[in-house]
Amino acid sequence: MELRSSFIAATVIACSAVMLPAAPASAAPTRYEAESAPATCSGTIDTDHAGYSGTGFCNGANAVGAAAQFTVNATTSGTATVGIRFASGTTTARPADVIVNGSRVSATTFEGTGTWSSWSTKTLAVQVNAGSNTIGLSPTTAAGLPNVDYVEFEVTAGGSPGTGRLDDPNLQYYGRWNRSNSSFYTMGWAGGYVDARFTGSSIGVRQRNAIDLFYSIDGGSLRWRRNVSGNVTLATGLATGSHSVRIGYRERAGSYNGDAGFGGLILAGGGQTAPVARPQNLVEFIGDSITVGQPNADRPFVAYPWRAGEALGAGHTQVAEGGACLVSRDCVGMMDWFRRSTSRATTDDWNFSTYQATGVVINLGTNDVGHGVSAAQFQQGYVVLLERVRRAYPNAHIFAMQTFRNRYVPETRNAVAARTAAGDSKVHFVDTTGWINTTTDLVDAVHPSPTGHAKIAQRLAPILDQYL
Ligand code: GCU
Repeated sequence: MELRSSFIAATVIACSAVMLPAAPASAAPTRYEAESAPATCSGTIDTDHAGYSGTGFCNGANAVGAAAQFTVNATTSGTATVGIRFASGTTTARPADVIVNGSRVSATTFEGTGTWSSWSTKTLAVQVNAGSNTIGLSPTTAAGLPNVDYVEFEVTAGGSPGTGRLDDPNLQYYGRWNRSNSSFYTMGWAGGYVDARFTGSSIGVRQRNAIDLFYSIDGGSLRWRRNVSGNVTLATGLATGSHSVRIGYRERAGSYNGDAGFGGLILAGGGQTAPVARPQNLVEFIGDSITVGQPNADRPFVAYPWRAGEALGAGHTQVAEGGACLVSRDCVGMMDWFRRSTSRATTDDWNFSTYQATGVVINLGTNDVGHGVSAAQFQQGYVVLLERVRRAYPNAHIFAMQTFRNRYVPETRNAVAARTAAGDSKVHFVDTTGWINTTTDLVDAVHPSPTGHAKIAQRLAPILDQYL
């Protein structure tokens, strides 16, 4: 990410030397130093590590919630790019919540930069109001924040208010949604969701037939509304200003046939939607019941795909179903079903131009054993899946996880090696040895508990973060 932005900057400079630059789409970013009020630092302003800008940097206390906060000025409402300059001389990544105007809007992770005097920049996209906004970084582990030097802030896209209807461009859909019905868009697979920003004192959603839906307002906890249909009120009495909402559904599985048909938002009188930034990264998780998070009641959001995606501040979704295999031998074989909108589709109907994943995580092989798939068939099939994912997403990093039951591990490794040898430099085998304790972190012999999923996400997120 950093390489790309400095390359763009270099190109702009090179061009402006030979021609008159066109009027910029937006002004240059403004720098806000961590040591200068109104910025606040829950810790000390230090000067003992070289390379900082201004007169020091914020060394936040090593504690959960020991935040650094910046007050920035936005020329207009819209999507802003925030570049955070930081240094961390440790090897353990330090995760933090991103808090805009008092609400948690996303999360990010600060990787080690090598030494305390090696500074790096993390870039985030956030929604801001016109005028003054606060942007806080609040660490979620006892390690606290890295040392923070400054943020550079710029509104990069203004946007128009919308209606909250299905086709409102301000609604951000994650996952494989079927949009062929103009009254209800249906979530295929599991783990999809809709994000929106809105004004007005209440928010609701139109549903078709009964469904278990979950939602969160302003980045708060995810809550269930089980077995609801028709017009569903999610919140009333909201404060003046804009709010965010996320809505997702329980997946269809076994005897559960809930109707994951989203019919748009119900706004208060005079309420409107506002644009929401899509994060730079979108991670798609291909797998079986372990990826879905079954049988935990709070899936998908206790499961590792959701947790890892959130920890990275990335969008995330699944192409996963309980019982799925890699190979289609009396089984939903993901080497084939990867190209479909749902497990019920009978043709390769998914249009990959709808979105591009920047990361794809595969966790398959646990179920193929029960369908008599040989080691050789598995390896061949895995190569085919890796090729198909590459064709679908030319630039994505693809991660092949070792299954937690250690099934087809050499074959998974060999398939990755075969694709690497064929010239694909963005395929990675993920060794999961020791990630979970198979006596305490499973709910049965196979499926991780919420604690097990949290452990998996904690190990997986930094690996994805190295590449995305
Ligand atoms: C070291 C370092 C500090 C840093 C701290 C930390 O003490 O010198 O600048 O803030 O580690 O772990 O956060």
